[in-house]
Amino acid sequence: MKGGFPLEVELEQIELKKKIHEKRSKICVVGLGYVGLPMAAILAKRGYNVTGIDINEKIVEKINQGISPINENGLDALLKEVAGRNLTATARPEAVSDSDIIFIIVQTPIDKDKKPDLSILKTACETVSRYLKKGQLVILESTIPPGTMNDVIIPILERSGLCAGEDFYLVYSPERAIPTRTLEEIVKNSRIIGGIDEKSAGLAKELYSCVTSGELLTEDIQTAEIIKLIENTYRDVNIALANEIALFCEKKGIDAAKAIEIANRHPRVNIHAPGPGVGGHCIPKDPYFLIHEAEEMGLHLRLIRTSREINESMPGHVIELIQHALKSINKDIKDSKISILGIAYKGNTDDVRKTPSKEVIKKLMPISDVFSHDPYVSKDFGGKFSNDLEEVVSDSDCIVVMTDHDEYKDADMKKIIKGLKKPCVIVDSRRVIDPEMTQDAGAKYFGIGYQFQ
Ligand SMILES: NC(=O)c1ccc[n+]([C@@H]2O[C@H](COP(=O)([O-])OP(=O)(O)OC[C@H]3O[C@@H](n4cnc5c(N)ncnc54)[C@H](O)[C@@H]3O)[C@@H](O)[C@H]2O)c1
Repeated sequence: MKGGFPLEVELEQIELKKKIHEKRSKICVVGLGYVGLPMAAILAKRGYNVTGIDINEKIVEKINQGISPINENGLDALLKEVAGRNLTATARPEAVSDSDIIFIIVQTPIDKDKKPDLSILKTACETVSRYLKKGQLVILESTIPPGTMNDVIIPILERSGLCAGEDFYLVYSPERAIPTRTLEEIVKNSRIIGGIDEKSAGLAKELYSCVTSGELLTEDIQTAEIIKLIENTYRDVNIALANEIALFCEKKGIDAAKAIEIANRHPRVNIHAPGPGVGGHCIPKDPYFLIHEAEEMGLHLRLIRTSREINESMPGHVIELIQHALKSINKDIKDSKISILGIAYKGNTDDVRKTPSKEVIKKLMPISDVFSHDPYVSKDFGGKFSNDLEEVVSDSDCIVVMTDHDEYKDADMKKIIKGLKKPCVIVDSRRVIDPEMTQDAGAKYFGIGYQFQ
């Protein structure tokens, strides 16, 4: 399906369109995670009657108490407004049959061989298929490998005995919001709407126009699948470039952060920040959806694969930096107390999925005395963990900043350095600490993309 909607009149006659417009349509959201829950809460806030379904009973319980199970800006306040009113959560899938619109927003990871693992998505679709009824609109927002809608999703949904595009409407609309700004981005970002046909796309457009002020871009499903993967692959390749520039600058004794910042003032340059690796549910796996599909066709996506390799090697580089830093003050990584600041994969979130900190802690655990801290996370990956920053860093030989939490940016580093075991080093993988202040306060500074000397 390409282009606009010449069938506007026909669309107008669909009862569901009126129901969406008048906020009478019942919506259910299958999967209440980092994307599903914010989407469900926004739809409820817009006045729709929303039932959220999740197999995780703990999540369901929390949501019904008006408590957010995840740390996401504004979500706690929004849930207090809508939970128990327009939004109800349940672990029972029967709510699907009572809905006009069904969102599917479950996780789509890769397996240990880095191939797409669609088992969770398939199970969710099987559940929906059991309760699917004529005239419903199904919207898939999970990120999927190319061809998944046609080859996997539609056959499962059609086990209901209903035909996609004839008996029920079907749309693929990948979510593009970024964690920590999910609510803000869902209501502002442009949205891709890949409909199985023009009526499906038209109905989804009617609904999403109540959600976002951003542009609604209609495309065919196959193109929509690729667009989402291009976006995250672009970011991965860009970060890999930044990381290579950082490695080069370290050797050359040049500050990569400064160089990149100035290069980015060029109107056609936009290089991301180097760092300790790429985490989260999306970027570390979405490029593999493209890589895997290409391999199936005998095509090797060299740049995309190499970028993944560079980014996956960065936690190892952090270890090298720690080793080098400690050596420069005549200390050995083996006998040192090393404090990891930040478990989450990025600043101001509690999300630890594919976090580079896990890799770094795992590598340090057999050789060093490892402590870790995070203001948002309660899960740790070994060593001694606390949410109390001062307790963690005291008497450390080395502090490693792994996450750009505001708490670290705003910390009184002079006071922290005072409590370290002298001589001491700071390894800043996020470049959030001022090198000069660090040296003045009595610690040696090492950072990704900073002088490696
Ligand atoms: N996290 C992000 O910021 C982000 C951004 C854009 C796109 N995406 C994509 O959105 C999708 C969802 O990601 P997420 O981060 O929200 O995942 P998540 O793991 O946070 O949430 C998925 C939820 O679905 C639930 N679930 C799994 N199977 C279920 C079933 N059969 N029935 C009911 N609930 C079920 C899980 O219990 C979980 O709570 C993924 O495909 C991801 O790639 C994520």
